[in-house]
Amino acid sequence: MKTATATATATADQRYINDVLAIAMNMSSQSNNDPFRPAWHFAPQFGLLNDPNGLAHFNGEFHLFYQWNPKACQHGAKAWGHATSKDLINWSHQPLALAPTEHYETHGCYSGSGLVVDGKLELFYTGNVKFEQGGRTAYQCRATLEAGKQVKKQGIVLSLPEGYSGHVRDPKVWQYQDAFYMVLGAEDLNYRGKVLAYRSNDLNNWEMIGEIFGDGVGNQQSDDFMLECPDLFPLADKHVLITCPKNWIDMGGKKVETFDVTYHIGDFDHQTATFEHSNGVLMDNGFDFYAPQTFEDESGRRILFGWMGKPDEFEPYQPTIELGWIHQMTCARELTIRNNTLIQTPVKELESLRQDQQDFTGLKQQFTGLSAELVLENLEGADIKLEIANDCYIESNQTGLVTRRKNLKTAEWESIAWQGTVSSLRLLRDHSSVEAFINGGIAVSTSRFFGLGQGEEKNVGFALTSQKEITATHWQLSA
Ligand code: FRU
Repeated sequence: MKTATATATATADQRYINDVLAIAMNMSSQSNNDPFRPAWHFAPQFGLLNDPNGLAHFNGEFHLFYQWNPKACQHGAKAWGHATSKDLINWSHQPLALAPTEHYETHGCYSGSGLVVDGKLELFYTGNVKFEQGGRTAYQCRATLEAGKQVKKQGIVLSLPEGYSGHVRDPKVWQYQDAFYMVLGAEDLNYRGKVLAYRSNDLNNWEMIGEIFGDGVGNQQSDDFMLECPDLFPLADKHVLITCPKNWIDMGGKKVETFDVTYHIGDFDHQTATFEHSNGVLMDNGFDFYAPQTFEDESGRRILFGWMGKPDEFEPYQPTIELGWIHQMTCARELTIRNNTLIQTPVKELESLRQDQQDFTGLKQQFTGLSAELVLENLEGADIKLEIANDCYIESNQTGLVTRRKNLKTAEWESIAWQGTVSSLRLLRDHSSVEAFINGGIAVSTSRFFGLGQGEEKNVGFALTSQKEITATHWQLSA
């Protein structure tokens, strides 16, 4: 256990910021001719965005920090970007929050979370360090944001625990009664993924209270080799654990990494550090959903943001790279539990974007607009097809819902988002993204669509055809 140490970072941080400014000035992210940039989702001004971090409602505003490589549209030594919002829709970019300038974070200020304690926003993140001779280590670190001030690094609060590889990261911290708790994603020395739990009385000294999830915990068996971005939180009278389990699958004879997100519903005992839970369920089967994080707002809602992206093999072919940026966040989603199932629905604030309502009943319709919402009802027995862009479709029939896209290096992709009856669909489109909420949010399919990368003229809004008369409502969305 270590105590946090304050460090002088001003000059290294200033050098980092100067580098970023010089690079940003050469990027064309401000291009007016950018058909892919979202109108009301959060996206980086330039560079690569990945996981949402440090989510909190603090000092009258929502805070969204995020994994950011402001120096390139590739992964690398990540910084934390920062934005604030009053309504979860309109975001103001804030100064860079954390730059990887200290010896304990040479290869990135990796993901972590935020917690408001005594009128300050306490941030926990992973200092990622790779050794020249190979191998890596990870430090869990603390930083503090006081109202109206810059984020101040407090240093290391936890070094690598024994029995695990250098992959121990992504602290999610919360308070329960008089103590603070943290979960970490980890890989053990037998290459098995684990979720570790810690307790602290002062945010600086952390004591491991157990492995709460993963192969060999209780009667669990799993060959996932790492669990990234764990998030454990109370919801209704249960606890939910979200993790990103890492594994390998065979894709046409090629071994590729998975980037799935699963949730487990159960009961967490803070005393014994045990989590009794039901089987895991995939949270989203679209092409672009990873590393989500939740927080509780002041009214008690559990709100989730996810990274609308994945570091898969097609990532380098995303057409926004030429425009100087890559990836965006999902919309803010409220989580609830119904019949032991996690339900995701867009937060109610998003309804304020609705304009120009168009009601429709029939078989075929071209709904125009690239920032729009479409709600389809009474879909039982209907086979529907929604064209989103050239060669990009969502199709639903009685066996389920499938998302197809043909783009990004001409790969034809098909993803089965839901198996079973589809009775309703709520689709949110924002230029190059569509989030499809199936049957009231029981399942979600989150994907980017680039229309062969040729630009706006290839996008078609929502072109609907149905085999049975259905009813639909369409709105233009304007922030
Ligand atoms: C998930 C992840 C985290 C890590 C971060 C680095 O996307 O790999 O485990 O902290 O991204 O950017």
